[in-house]
Amino acid sequence: MVILGIESSCDETAVGIVKDGHTLLANAVHSQIDIHKEFGGVVPEVAARSHIEMMLPVLRQALTEAQMSWDDIDGIAVTYGPGLVGSLLIGNLTARTLALTLDKPLYPVNHVEAHVYANFLTAYPTAFPSPAPAAAPKFPLLALIVSGGHSQLALFEDHFSYRLLGQTQDDAIGEAFDKVAKIIGLPYPGGPSIASAALTGNSRAYTYPKAHMQHKYDFSFSGLKTAVLRHVQSLCNVDISFPSTQLAGLLSASQRNDIAASFQRIAVETVVDKAVAAFTEYSPASVVIAGGVAANQELRAQLAARLPIDISYAAPQLCTDNGAMIATLGCYKAMRGTQPTDPRTATVAPSLSM
Ligand code: KG4
Ligand code: ZN
Repeated sequence: MVILGIESSCDETAVGIVKDGHTLLANAVHSQIDIHKEFGGVVPEVAARSHIEMMLPVLRQALTEAQMSWDDIDGIAVTYGPGLVGSLLIGNLTARTLALTLDKPLYPVNHVEAHVYANFLTAYPTAFPSPAPAAAPKFPLLALIVSGGHSQLALFEDHFSYRLLGQTQDDAIGEAFDKVAKIIGLPYPGGPSIASAALTGNSRAYTYPKAHMQHKYDFSFSGLKTAVLRHVQSLCNVDISFPSTQLAGLLSASQRNDIAASFQRIAVETVVDKAVAAFTEYSPASVVIAGGVAANQELRAQLAARLPIDISYAAPQLCTDNGAMIATLGCYKAMRGTQPTDPRTATVAPSLSM
């Protein structure tokens, strides 16, 4: 079963090709980071336009990487939500057109669920920069999904059968990394910038509060972001009327690195505390982390130190948005008999939840 997966929900135009739900054959990704950098975040109209320009070149690149033609593709999977409506539409119109004209089954998939499926890939192409996990995760499976748009803790009993244990009530953890980076003058996307500034910072220099939630597995990150903002204002001896865009210029390099390291420690501890509590309560056979923030080394180190089982990690390239995870979930749908969707009526769902 060879599935081609198309991802265009945010700022990556991506196409992956996966065989039997475990073998990665191609992972072509065009990131728009350079386009959005100057605006400090994703501009939806600009993103949609770039998807239009890049979709066909990325599709061709994926087929070339896999050394395949359309005849070798058994079905097409596509992210239908959640995401930016204009961006989703480009991927979906492409997938629907391909499914109709090439007479291939179409499998729309939930982007957040698909992040978890990056962990089921256990064979990467020889040229891939990181090694693949030795084995696929086992059920019941605890998944910590941490990205720029989502922070969720879910317990999967089996494929497609899961319970959402908790989720963020405001900002996603990746969004908090991006906003704090902006406050302290680090470039977009904030996650990797904060992680690298933190390497030379002291993570115990400052302590920020962790949100206490009514429901124990829910998250909240907007208070943490505001705590960092207030702290930076007080370090710089200015009040809340001072323009936040000018704050970063008043910080020394060592203050910036210490804030990055301290914020990262607290943000990561917040999600790890909940993952450890859920592990203790539900005794899952495997734990996986998924989404862009799963590439974070501090998160991996804290989980390794606090969980009593080993975790296998997907390659960092498969943690951030990609088409391979969409293709992998599409494979499982196809292999387990999910009815394909009629390409003439398939729609997008920008606010889709898990
Ligand atoms: O999964 P993803 O590519 O897109 C969404 O579905 O949101 O995640 C992007 C997010 C951004 O907020 C980015 O800052 C964060 O993942 N991120 C990281 C790292 N790499 C990407 N956060 C922390 N540490 C990283 N190394
Ligand atoms: Zn994502």
